[in-house]
Amino acid sequence: MKPGIEGFGVSDGQNLTQNQHVADDNKTGGLRYDSLPAQMTFFGVVFMSDPVRIALAPGDGIGPEIMDACMSVFNAAGITDMLDFVPVDMGERVFAAGDSRGVTDEASAEVEACGLLYKGPMGTPIGGGGKSINVTLRKTFGAFANLRQFRSLPGVETVYSRAGVPVDFFVVRENIEDTYGGIEHRLTNDVIECKRLISAPGSDQVHRFAFRTAEALGIDLVHCGHKANIMKMTDGLFLNRFREVAKDFPDVQTADVIIDALCMNLVLRPQVYQMIVLPNLQGDIVSDLAAGLVGGLGFAPSANIGDHISIFEAVHGTAPDIAGKGVANPTSLLLSGLLMLRHIGMRKQAAIIENALLAALEDGVHTADVAAGGKEPVGTADFAQGIIDRLGSGPEKFEAKPVPQADTPVHTAPTRPVVNTLMRTFENVVSHVVGADLYLDTCIAPLELADRLQRLAHDTPFKLTLISNRGTQVWPSGSVYTEIVDYYRVRFELKDKHKIGQLGIAPTIALLSRIAEKFDVTDFQPLKYFDGEPGYSLAQGQ
Ligand code: NAI
Repeated sequence: MKPGIEGFGVSDGQNLTQNQHVADDNKTGGLRYDSLPAQMTFFGVVFMSDPVRIALAPGDGIGPEIMDACMSVFNAAGITDMLDFVPVDMGERVFAAGDSRGVTDEASAEVEACGLLYKGPMGTPIGGGGKSINVTLRKTFGAFANLRQFRSLPGVETVYSRAGVPVDFFVVRENIEDTYGGIEHRLTNDVIECKRLISAPGSDQVHRFAFRTAEALGIDLVHCGHKANIMKMTDGLFLNRFREVAKDFPDVQTADVIIDALCMNLVLRPQVYQMIVLPNLQGDIVSDLAAGLVGGLGFAPSANIGDHISIFEAVHGTAPDIAGKGVANPTSLLLSGLLMLRHIGMRKQAAIIENALLAALEDGVHTADVAAGGKEPVGTADFAQGIIDRLGSGPEKFEAKPVPQADTPVHTAPTRPVVNTLMRTFENVVSHVVGADLYLDTCIAPLELADRLQRLAHDTPFKLTLISNRGTQVWPSGSVYTEIVDYYRVRFELKDKHKIGQLGIAPTIALLSRIAEKFDVTDFQPLKYFDGEPGYSLAQGQ
């Protein structure tokens, strides 16, 4: 990797924070970010800057123990004198009090006011209505990019450290879309669906963030992981937008890799990768795989970055099996806190703490989850003390972080938008309805189903062109060996005499009404051409 700066507080051009304005001014020779004092001088007038406020939620299970450990390190390093940590109420206690979001209104308002949230892990009620609070927070506050760093650490033995293979790469995961919309419906007795949404502007946001972060970190190769060979339209869009956005970053090389090959490569040759950008679910899985490469979830920091609000949290969960025992590893939460310090420009303090952590790990100070050369593990509080004792020193064999000159927290709390921001990538696209897919809850065999549907549609502008079951074509051609379930897709397309663009949506609705009189229709999807290209996929075997 090229030597570079550590900041990554980068966003789309529009909603720049003060942090980014200053960084931009840096390039043009204006204000120097590194040299801003705690009091800022504009045109000779001195303003005392308000301390940066950070909403603080310790979380559930081991959350309070590891958050205590991190705050004790921050305290010893003087961070708590420079930043204002504001406790907020969220997590299992709020769920238990009957709030299905797990976040009180006051907590929500505080996070919006601060623009920064430092949180411990929070439990998700299994089953029932309660959604993952962690996912809700990221989505509600528009924290669209999840940045995680995976790096070999001293004293943390892994297959790779023993083999002398360095692991050091970032994963940028899209954080809002994909199946994480959690849009699920029971369609029939036997079938449940989950809608997978990928948008062009959502993809653009995460790709742009990845490239800007790569530039800021001196990373010269960014991979896009995907499954566009199968999900040609959704992952195809994610990949196309990656290629499109990459054109604005000519100094960064790009490559793409299919997700299954990526997983194998990561295990075989993790040193090939510097940064990988991925859709949400694939990114989730690859992130945990990557955590395994560097010693487990206890060592993987995570930042959820948005244009307005950013959330910093450990990637692991509440570890109920060890909660309350004082043995949990606070490293992941601490490293996430360091990402947060860097996000707001406190690179010097972040480097000092990171070097103390590296020194402690190198000296064999470790919690019970880490195998470290036969040394006795310490508890959470003693681990934190081991870091505090080494503040000001650094690792000897492992590369220490360069400590920048004095820096100052700079972060402007977000200005509340008046309405939700509409993001658009493609405008002025011409679309035309060319048919409809109907989804039926029925156990009728394909041939008989086709016969009945053809009779129902004979005097409409549409002809039956396809029946598929679980995405595999079963009519007009197919195999009787294709096992089927009680849920069919039936496709109607314009009869040849109708030209594309002649009919609007209304005839497809009329067709739907006609079919619904005889069948249990569970879903309806108009088929459209967009700028002359079909906006729908073919069936397997079609
Ligand atoms: P988990 O990450 O809590 O635990 C998995 C295993 O890793 C356990 O054996 C645990 O003891 C160990 N472990 C995790 N963090 C550790 C640490 N810091 N030090 C030492 N050992 C550690 O995953 P699990 O059990 O699947 O989830 C428990 C709860 O946490 C669930 O309610 C889940 O929804 C929630 N969760 C929350 C997350 C968040 O707040 N971002 C992320 C993942 C899960």
